[in-house]
Order: sequence, then C-alpha cells, then structure tokens
Amino acid sequence: MKIIVTGGAGFIGSAFVRLALAEGARVVNLDKLTYAGNLENLAAVAEHPAYTFVHGDICDAKLVNDLVAAEKPDAVVHFAAESHVDRSILDPSPAFETNLRGTFTLLEAARAHRLPRFIHVSTDEVYGSIPFPGEADENFPLNPSSPYSASKAGSDLLARSYFTTYGTPVIVTRASNNYGPYQFPEKLIPLMISNAFEDRALPVYGDGMQVRDWLYVDDHCRAIHALIAKGRAGEIYNIGGSAALANIDVVRRILAATGKTESLIRSVADRPGHDRRYALSSAKVMRETGWAPTVSFDDGLARTIAWYCENSGWVERVKSGDYRAYYARNYDDRHAGV
Ligand code: NAD
Ligand code: DAU
Repeated sequence: MKIIVTGGAGFIGSAFVRLALAEGARVVNLDKLTYAGNLENLAAVAEHPAYTFVHGDICDAKLVNDLVAAEKPDAVVHFAAESHVDRSILDPSPAFETNLRGTFTLLEAARAHRLPRFIHVSTDEVYGSIPFPGEADENFPLNPSSPYSASKAGSDLLARSYFTTYGTPVIVTRASNNYGPYQFPEKLIPLMISNAFEDRALPVYGDGMQVRDWLYVDDHCRAIHALIAKGRAGEIYNIGGSAALANIDVVRRILAATGKTESLIRSVADRPGHDRRYALSSAKVMRETGWAPTVSFDDGLARTIAWYCENSGWVERVKSGDYRAYYARNYDDRHAGV
C-alpha cells in the first residue's frame, strides 16, 4: 500500500508515518514545515527505503495535483492543519487558509484522480462543548467555538460533501485530545511538563475545571490505520481516549510526577470562547474495526514525561526563536487570577 500523508512532520502525522512504515506501507509525506513541522520528528525513518519527503504547501494546487498524479497512492491521510486553538484566536487567517483551502485543494485532487481512500483527520472540537453527562456520537450537532474548530468543522463538512456529491471515498475521523512524544510545547501537556522542568509558572486558564478526553497518540494512529482497511466510505468515526480529566487534575499529576510543588500553578485569564467539556462515544470505531485504546492515562503520561526528560535538546530547539514571541503574545497580557 502507498499512502500520501499530509502534515507528516507534525506531532500526530510523524507518529502515523512511523507506524505506517512499520506496518509495511510506502509513505510519501507532504509537509510545509511550518513552526509545528519538524523533520527531527522523523529522524528514525528519514533513510527508510519506503519513505519519501516532499516539502510543499497543501494549498498549492499544481504541486498537489502533480504529486497525486505521479504517486497514484492507495490512500491519502490528511493531517496537515494549523492545529492550535490559541494561535487561531490570536490570528485566525492561517487556520482558514490551510484548514479550508488546503483541504479543498486535496479533495479536488482526490476527485480528479479517483483516489480509492481519503481519510480526513477532523477533531472532537467540531461538536463544541458537551453538557454533562452526555457524550457526542457521530450524529451529534456541530457547534464549533473557536476559529480553529470552525475551520475544522468547515473542512469536515466539505470532505463529506465530496462523498455525497462526487462519490469520493472520504472517511472523516474525529479524535479527542492527543498527547505523547514530539508534541509541540504550546499544547497543555508538553507545555506544563516543560515549564515544570524549568521551574516556570504553569498557566491554567480560568478555573481549570474544563474537561478533555486524553488519547495517547499511538492509539489514535492505530485507529486511523485500522480505518484505512476497515472504515466505510462516507462515514464519520469518533476516536476517544476514554480518559476524561479536568485540566487542573492533569496539571497536578504532572507536578507530582516531576517532583514539583503546586506553588508553580498560576490561574490566568480564560481562553475566549473556551469549551467547558468534550466527551465522545467511540462505540462505532470499536464495533467496526475492533480498535480500542490500549494506553492508560497514567502509563501514557509517564511515558510522555520520560520522553520529554530524555529529549531536552529537542525541547530546547523547538522553544527557541518564534516560540518565545508566541509565548509572550499569548501569556503576557493574561492577568493573574480570575
Ligand atoms: P501539528 O500542529 O503538530 O502538525 C501540523 C503539521 O501540518 C506540521 O507538520 C505542519 O508543518 C503541517 N502543515 C501545516 N500547514 C501546512 C500546509 N499548508 N501544507 C502542508 N503542511 C502543513 O498538528 P497535530 O497536533 O499533529 O494535528 C494533526 C491533525 O490532527 C490536525 O488536522 C488536527 O486538527 C487533528 N487533531 C489533532 C488533535 C490533537 O490533540 N493534537 C486531536 C484531534 C485532531
Ligand atoms: O480536542 C481535540 C483538540 O485538542 C485538537 O483538535 C486540537 O488540535 C488540539 O490542540 C487540542 O485542542 P485543545 O484546545 O483542547 O488543546 P490545548 O492543549 O491547547 O488545551 C487543552 C486544555 O488546556 C484546554 O481546555 C485549554 C487548557 N490550557 C491550555 C494551555 C495551552 C490551559 O489551561 N493553559 C494553557 O496554557
């Protein structure tokens, strides 16, 4: 099987590239290498004979069309996105360009070249906040709150429209919050781990009682891999981690595991439009593929902290340069306390 992966130099994409190669696929990775794309994430497979890297933008219609025509892949797995809510609040335009135009460009190539499989990697954020004690199944109404999640909801609907209108064999996945090695330290878990290591403040938005469902990245990638073979075209599949926790509990666990005290916690101004609770039913993907998450949150967090501890050079390199400017922009104006 030959797979074009978009965004394969990012956090989840690089884990998927490693998994697909290990499973015997040939992989062509198309990535623009934005601030979030990092070829270091793929150092272990860079020389693999079945792996090819193409540096390019998914919004570049000629490049995308030529690549699909030349490679004739069995599947496209589309991860490339501007993936961070806070950045999309500070500046929405990159999210709209990549998440909407980029997805449209890929779908047009899939349609023109009659691709046999197109996996669109969407997110549970398209459902918006889910009132307790409910869970969203795949028919739950979409109610995105941030520019990021609205752009993902738009691309999710666009992808499904290609199945309905043109018969393009699209599958949409909606996963919950991923964590694990190689995640950019703008996201909650790696940010808190890395700040704790450096004895810096851990900025908790609002009251910290927002709930996220944590999914270990390799479990997410196994679900997508299973869906390439077993998923049904035109269908949506939720992929949750069955590990719902309030943010403040995640932060406290990180402090305990890193041997730091709770005096590092800083309550800061809330994220505008902050979704209170995400909760997914993953019954459909479990029933149809046999997939289930295998890594408990305690085990996954321990593995993740160990990885960040052993890879301090990676962290230092990604936190240099633009990261500092982003950090100041996102956090300096948040007043202490709520
Ligand atoms: P990431 O930010 O770590 O990586 C994104 C990758 O896409 C980077 O390698 C970047 O260089 C590349 N990219 C960005 N714009 C591009 C463009 N125009 N052309 C080509 N490449 C481009 O993201 P991630 O956290 O790995 O998320 C991957 C996908 O999974 C996204 O679609 C995201 O919406 C979705 N998702 C993420 C999570 C999560 O918790 N991280 C959960 C559910 C769904
Ligand atoms: O639910 C899936 C989504 O999960 C994906 O679609 C996104 O790509 C991914 O970034 C993630 O979005 P979140 O906004 O949930 O992730 P983030 O790690 O940014 O934040 C997790 C929670 O932690 C959220 O409630 C906000 C809070 N938070 C985050 C940061 C960075 C803080 O309290 N302080 C922080 O400094």
